[in-house]
Amino acid sequence: MPPDADDPGAALEAGRIAFARPWRFVMGVAAIAGLPEASGTEIAFAGRSNVGKSSLINALTGQGTLARTSNTPGRTQELNFFTNDGGIVIVDMPGYGYARAPKADVDAWTRLVFDFLRGRANLRRVYVLIDARHGVKANDREALDILDKAAVSYQIVLTKCDKERPGELDKVLAATRAAIAKRPAAHPEIIATSSATGAGLDVLRAEIVALHAP
Ligand code: GTP
Ligand code: MG
Repeated sequence: MPPDADDPGAALEAGRIAFARPWRFVMGVAAIAGLPEASGTEIAFAGRSNVGKSSLINALTGQGTLARTSNTPGRTQELNFFTNDGGIVIVDMPGYGYARAPKADVDAWTRLVFDFLRGRANLRRVYVLIDARHGVKANDREALDILDKAAVSYQIVLTKCDKERPGELDKVLAATRAAIAKRPAAHPEIIATSSATGAGLDVLRAEIVALHAP
């Protein structure tokens, strides 16, 4: 459901307008010391490598080459910042759970992400992307633990729903709801999306804009 239950049409329209603005890449950051100044409402996208974070950012903004996507897991190695110059900043986070990543890379990821999550005053929400075909895996639970520990508000977004049969999608939704039910920092609603078909993107845009102008 769109966030403004009194007027869902207005919430969707506000989301559409904010995302129709031109978005631009601000910078990529590999170390916490290089973070851009904290300004505006920041929203981050996290999730396993290859889950579709960069594709979702491109689909939300309608700018197909804004964030770099790839078939090769581990494409996004830095925190990449994008802005619509209208007060909303989106952060594309490096994916976790890439099986062939060296331990040093995993440690660097954990440090960068945890320092960012803990210290970022204007970070309003993290969207944790879960592949609709796979559901919540062990390394997703570890990521959710980090978010709960850092007390950062987060919400689950199912990706690649175009690849899942409707009956199966309902099962994954139910299982995902159960997986977050007792988590303190989790938003209870789950958004089912597809960057390929555009499903759910209007709702996600409306949610993000509502965080900017509550
Ligand atoms: P890392 O940067 O490696 O962490 O990956 P990522 O999460 O940014 O994934 P990315 O957006 O690069 O997408 C990975 C692959 O999944 C690409 O081949 C995309 O085309 C594909 N993909 C992403 N979203 C969707 C979707 O909604 N539907 C389908 N069918 N494929 C998708
Ligand atoms: Mg990426």
